[in-house]
Amino acid sequence: MIASSTDARFPLAELHAHVEGTLEPAFARELARREGVDLGSFAEGETYRWEGFSGFLAAYDRAAALLRRPEDYRRLAYDYLTRIAADGAIYSELTISPDHARASGLSPETYLNALSQGAKDAEQASGIVCRFLVVGVRHLGPEAVEEAARFAAGASGVTGFGMAGDERLHRPRDFARAFRIAAEAGLGLTAHAGEFAGADGISETLDELKVTRIGHGVRSIEDADLLKRLREEAITLEVCPGSNLSLGVYPDAAAHPLKRLREAGLRLTVNSDDPPFFGTDLAREYAFAAAAGFGPSERLALTRNAIEAGFMDAATRQRLL
Ligand code: ADE
Ligand code: ZN
Repeated sequence: MIASSTDARFPLAELHAHVEGTLEPAFARELARREGVDLGSFAEGETYRWEGFSGFLAAYDRAAALLRRPEDYRRLAYDYLTRIAADGAIYSELTISPDHARASGLSPETYLNALSQGAKDAEQASGIVCRFLVVGVRHLGPEAVEEAARFAAGASGVTGFGMAGDERLHRPRDFARAFRIAAEAGLGLTAHAGEFAGADGISETLDELKVTRIGHGVRSIEDADLLKRLREEAITLEVCPGSNLSLGVYPDAAAHPLKRLREAGLRLTVNSDDPPFFGTDLAREYAFAAAAGFGPSERLALTRNAIEAGFMDAATRQRLL
């Protein structure tokens, strides 16, 4: 629980981490050895080598393709969740991608079952609560995203639906049907927007996809009317500062708008996105907020915002708050 935790650690919570994006390079090297894949210098040390947003997306696919067996996904989820639980995390919403499962030769059902087992084992071992959010990959196009939505709508243990991938391609309205399928199945909705496209991409995402959260959304800072709308509609932003710096959305920490978004009255959370790719983790994202001037009560509000905006049932929310 947030309020009456007797644990000395500060409670953390996240809404935005891509499960394949949590793959540690050491585990990637182990998988590559097993599969006879030559990684060259791609996964040396504690991070991956890539350049630019397109390079990152390709690196993500390359790392994800090493995960080929159900046990790999069980271990991936277990290791990640217990790792952040040791840093104080009480809730994690993991983004999962049926398209990446298929590219690895597994059915989305087998993939989800294995991840669910890892999450269940992690909850038993550490108390962390995890929920799964299925994403469609935007640059694969509207039909692929609709297919992901149909999987999400029929899957048990999935509580949300979203869209990741290259925001520079397609328009939000191209994905309206996918989001309608997910909404009709009762899933919570979010989408990456305002990361590589500007503020109007966020407005159109709200209009056309009816999301209650925005993945990233940092470029809303460029439009005062949009800030007002986000405040009035109580939209939660899944801000990922380390990701933004690593991908060059902002040149340095001083230029990052996290603090200005709070001053604009928005509901914020901080998130690690794809931690080893960006040399970060959830605790470091909270440290980024602290360095940006968020005191303990403001950092606690980040955790509370994540629990309030998380796609979980009311009883779980009540238990965590
Ligand atoms: N997939 C994984 N991380 C992503 C990001 N930061 N933006 C878009 N798609 C992603
Ligand atoms: Zn993301």
